[in-house]
Amino acid sequence: MHRKLEGRIVIATHNPGKLAEMRELLAPYGVEAVSAGELGLGEPEETGDTFEANARIKAIAAAQAARLPAFADDSGIVVDALDGAPGIYSARWAGETKDFNAAMARVERLLAERGATTPDKRRAHFVSALCVAWPDGDLEQVEARVDGTLVWPPRGTAGFGYDPMFLPDGHARTFGEMTSIEKHGMPPLGLGLSHRARAFVKLAEICLERR
Ligand code: IMP
Repeated sequence: MHRKLEGRIVIATHNPGKLAEMRELLAPYGVEAVSAGELGLGEPEETGDTFEANARIKAIAAAQAARLPAFADDSGIVVDALDGAPGIYSARWAGETKDFNAAMARVERLLAERGATTPDKRRAHFVSALCVAWPDGDLEQVEARVDGTLVWPPRGTAGFGYDPMFLPDGHARTFGEMTSIEKHGMPPLGLGLSHRARAFVKLAEICLERR
């Protein structure tokens, strides 16, 4: 039996883009979501070497500090031709100033150095690992991905991070050109397009109840 999430929970993120997306995803489930930022909780060091490990570190730290169930996500973009980089370092590639135009330019420079000019050499996927931790130590974890190719120059101004250079398979527009409804493709409109939406659908199946 999986344990159900209800009442008040902490969303263990300080990233406003992710917070907005997670609140939107949680809205239909009657869960009251407060963020780690709003509660003044610190940010633990992400010392794991997988998305899953880092999601777990963030969820456990928030659950312990707030004495509430906590929901955390760790995500990033994995580029095949770059041996999986930036991967778990996706946020760090944007530096202190969170400059994702610079991070995307770095990805493109490295792809060009490797002669990755055709779509088949520019394969990438986003990964989302989600973890729910309860203050008593219970855990639930899921992970999902969305595959696509990287385009240059970046297209669109919607979304965040690497969205403008990511063209999901089967679509003609990048995540940066999609509304958040299209990007996530959540039921009843779709079965989840983005990595985060797909992971969320899996998590909802095991520990959320639609209200
Ligand atoms: P973290 O999960 O906070 O370590 O950061 C993940 C980083 O991966 C974000 O700062 C973005 O750069 C990137 N990322 C994760 N999900 C997305 C997405 O849906 N669109 C664009 N970039 C993303």
